[in-house]
Amino acid sequence: MSDKKIKRIGVLTSGGDAPGMNAVIRAVYRTANYFGIQSIGIRRGWQGLINGDFVVLNDDVVRHTVGRGGTVLYTARSPEFMTEAGRQKALATCKMLGLDGVIAVGGDGTFRGALELSRLGVPVMGIPATIDNDIGCTNYTIGFDSACNTAIDCIDKLRDTMQSHERCSVVEVMGRHAGFLALYVGLAVDATSVLVPEREMDFEQHVIERIQNARLSGITHFMIVVAEGAGSAVEIGHKIKESLGMDPRVTVLGHIQRGGAPTGRDRETATRMGYYAVKAFAEGRSGSVICTREGGIVETPIEEALKMQKHLQMERYDILEAISSTSTGIKQ
Ligand code: F6P
Repeated sequence: MSDKKIKRIGVLTSGGDAPGMNAVIRAVYRTANYFGIQSIGIRRGWQGLINGDFVVLNDDVVRHTVGRGGTVLYTARSPEFMTEAGRQKALATCKMLGLDGVIAVGGDGTFRGALELSRLGVPVMGIPATIDNDIGCTNYTIGFDSACNTAIDCIDKLRDTMQSHERCSVVEVMGRHAGFLALYVGLAVDATSVLVPEREMDFEQHVIERIQNARLSGITHFMIVVAEGAGSAVEIGHKIKESLGMDPRVTVLGHIQRGGAPTGRDRETATRMGYYAVKAFAEGRSGSVICTREGGIVETPIEEALKMQKHLQMERYDILEAISSTSTGIKQ
């Protein structure tokens, strides 16, 4: 707790962008204004702090951005910030701009950078934003709902043509290390099977038998959702062809899941998180990540937050098994 009056703060977006980041930036600016604090946008993440790349936030910068994907402050990954020399340059920028605090929006890597900056004496706050929703300290990360709905919309369109042609579709969604997006989307689109990094793939059981059971229940088109961290949709398509003779159509959704207008959930969550990050600074607190937990907002100290793990709710597979039309009756 500090009794130093916060006069000016910086805000930056870092790592993979996520729909809703602009809503955070807007909320930070508006809330800072409300508390009589000036806010400075740092462009291009930590690299921007090293280079002194900034824009003074005002209504023109944030106007009509709450519903826009991407980040008006750009984002970048910064190997230079991982060096002591790079961090010293960033510290010099904070001093030059008279920043009393920095809000870092992004994922775990972003928070590790924020922790390092705080160790140089700059108060920081973190806001979790990644479409993967794989940050352990928070139930929810900004961008997840928007990315899921983009993927669901794409897969719904795919299902129309797969149904018409009675084909198998293999769809690769994002999630380099985590299957939160894949499993959520898989349940939402009634996938025949969902493959995630957290579950070791038994191709015969998890893919072939699921397709065969679906066929036995009268279904003639099939939807396999695979997280990129669980494997390549192209390879899975080839293996299905080798095993069953059908010719799957493969779709890699890729970066389309990172764009588009943020959903209401992401806008609202982003706005709350931006507000609480600035409010913490205004009330003399720092060094935490703004997290959602049990529907509320909590501040988790960054070092503690970085140690926290979040595990995929594997019981969702039980749900998929039970309700998907491929179930073969009573649980074996
Ligand atoms: O971390 C979010 C994410 O979209 C991952 O799901 C994906 O694997 C990665 O970023 C892609 O990173 P890049 O945009 O650098 O290719």
